[in-house]
Amino acid sequence: MRTGSAMMKNSDNRKVLLDEDGMPKEWYNILPDLPAPLPPPINPATKEPVKPEELERVFAKELIRQEVSQERWIPIPEEVREVYRLWRPTPLYRARRLEQYLKTPARIYYKFEGVSPPGSHKPNTAVAQAYYNMKEGIERLTTETGAGQWGSSLAFATMLFGLKCTVYMVRASYNQKPYRAILMRSWGAEIHPSPSDKTNFGRSLYEKDPNHPGSLGIAISEAIEDAVTHDNTRYTLGSVLNHVLMHQTVQGLEAKRQLEMLDEYPDIVAGCVGGGSSFSGLFWPFYYDVYVSKKAPKKTKFVATEPTACPTMTKGVYTYDFGDTAKMTPLLPMYTLGSDFIPAPIHAGGLRYHGDAPTLCLLLKKGYIEPHAYNQLEVFEAASIFARTEGIVPAPEPSHTIKYVIDEALRCKQTGEEKVILFNLCGHGYFDLQAYLDYFEGRLQPFEYPEEAIRESLNRLKSELPWIDQVPYLKNL
Ligand SMILES: Cc1ncc(COP(=O)(O)O)c(C=O)c1O
Repeated sequence: MRTGSAMMKNSDNRKVLLDEDGMPKEWYNILPDLPAPLPPPINPATKEPVKPEELERVFAKELIRQEVSQERWIPIPEEVREVYRLWRPTPLYRARRLEQYLKTPARIYYKFEGVSPPGSHKPNTAVAQAYYNMKEGIERLTTETGAGQWGSSLAFATMLFGLKCTVYMVRASYNQKPYRAILMRSWGAEIHPSPSDKTNFGRSLYEKDPNHPGSLGIAISEAIEDAVTHDNTRYTLGSVLNHVLMHQTVQGLEAKRQLEMLDEYPDIVAGCVGGGSSFSGLFWPFYYDVYVSKKAPKKTKFVATEPTACPTMTKGVYTYDFGDTAKMTPLLPMYTLGSDFIPAPIHAGGLRYHGDAPTLCLLLKKGYIEPHAYNQLEVFEAASIFARTEGIVPAPEPSHTIKYVIDEALRCKQTGEEKVILFNLCGHGYFDLQAYLDYFEGRLQPFEYPEEAIRESLNRLKSELPWIDQVPYLKNL
């Protein structure tokens, strides 16, 4: 979109803003454009693909329809756009002071999603999910949260549409980030540290160890159990599923317009991956240009970052696995560390999930994505450089990407390449200050997850479901 401000010259801008009409009217759905059909979720009881109707007790019908839709563009309801207007379109910044500090010829841009009321990209989908559930007469939503970003986004969205909200928050994060829980309560949500004594599965762990650190897999099990055992209640997920990633494409669609106003096109699009929603939301629209419409002026590279403590993309195994620890979800085709994975208590709470989105995993398997893993010491060093140059204190999750971007910008300094790098600053870190304090005071540890632990977990899965290697859908990928 070229508006009056499109006349700006490259060199002049610190940030690019779109007016509210510049917000997309449709989400981009990658399903029809994947390089191979997406392997379906499998029902472990029947060993057959899950039928959409089987999910109706868990999710709103419209979200299930979107989950399997082959339509490339899905209209964003006007009521959802109206809420998006509270903070969207989000700004695109040029990281000029970081570039100057690094003395790099690279041009670095970041899409800043931290301007939303909950402070991250997560409300882009929370608002849509709360809206469709409200339209279908649902009264309460349940969910899990790691870092607290997703839980606070759902608390915010349910408040706007008059729904109740119950959040199971991974206990390690609940203790590390008490202010996230207070934020959720400010928006009217009920919140339980997980494992909790509120569900059968939670109690089975809580009674053995009231200080159990929890995991996203456990919290998901609790939230699903709560939803399916109560009337008029549905479960929502903040990442991994196709419809969730699709709602996030407002980011990439806006970023494309903003770069266009500067006559720029990225050589690299980078983002962090917990389940894959923020990264996919940014890179899918560029994937469309490069591989579908083939109108991209460059063969853009897509780079995904993750913690060495939870190395799903760099060390995980591509197979079918459960999405949660109690094995209540269908089997999903993904790079996994095993669904009984208990992560080290690193501060990037949002990156501690044992698997990743099936779409992202397929693209990784097919060689469309370059993954990189970093430990939290190098991540916080990069985050501090960013805070001291750009001013914004980044959340620990996108700081993994900042580490990659700084390394890449320094490589450009060596080679003299003027690469254009776009990354997703998908959240601010103002609720993560304890993590910064731990870093400044030398208390952070550079956890690495051992490969034997992954093998042991997947062997346990194979002994339980010996047929898992025979599932045909992953063959020939
Ligand atoms: C700020 C932030 N970034 C990234 C993530 C990771 O999730 P995803 O990969 O779905 O974006 C989270 C998850 O909670 C988060 O809070």
